[in-house]
Amino acid sequence: MLLTDLPTGLAGGARAREMTLHDIPAVYALEMQLFPADAWPLDMFLAEITHETRGYIVLETPTDTGTQVIGYAGLMSVADTADVQTIAVTPACEGRGYGRALLDFLAREAAARGAEQMLLEVRADNPRAQNLYLKNGYQQIHVRRRYYNDGVDALIMRRDLTEMTPVQGETSHDR
Ligand SMILES: CC(C)(COP(=O)(O)OP(=O)(O)OC[C@H]1O[C@@H](n2cnc3c(N)ncnc32)[C@H](O)[C@@H]1OP(=O)(O)O)[C@@H](O)C(=O)NCCC(=O)NCCS
Repeated sequence: MLLTDLPTGLAGGARAREMTLHDIPAVYALEMQLFPADAWPLDMFLAEITHETRGYIVLETPTDTGTQVIGYAGLMSVADTADVQTIAVTPACEGRGYGRALLDFLAREAAARGAEQMLLEVRADNPRAQNLYLKNGYQQIHVRRRYYNDGVDALIMRRDLTEMTPVQGETSHDR
């Protein structure tokens, strides 16, 4: 599915684009580094990016020899509800607004697909991600006890997207 409205104006010349098969090895390497207790298997990324209800992007920065993937994010959007499937920024690039840009993109994309709310799970021991979500319109609505493989609770958070959801029949070209 064509993605709408990718992030622009990112720090450090970073660019956003749709995740492709070619990105999966680099994304998987970051995944294992950033989610040591519950990394997705490599073939899960393949299944995710080829599923029509999903939308995945990567952020990359220029290097001497080409480009390097520094972050990624993905959503699932079915009927009126979307989920943040994953969001990650490499530690060397944290604190430059990439996380926020990825999260904003997921909300815009979900709203463009007709979602009226976004849900996500975040580890109870991950205050950094919780802060990102709290500062961007998410509220905790539930706790799932021992949700993660290592027994840590998941906080379930929700953001209302109804103010972003396009009115049916309206396009950005309407006057
Ligand atoms: C969570 C994560 C995506 C944030 O990415 P990021 O690029 O650093 O995020 P940003 O630079 O956009 O910062 C957004 C917010 O993070 C929070 N934040 C930044 N630095 C922080 C710190 N040192 N401690 C706590 N919170 C911090 C702030 O709320 C910040 O907002 P502000 O800049 O308005 O103050 C990134 O740290 C990450 O990938 N972590 C590992 C994987 C992970 O935990 N993913 C989330 C799974 S639910």
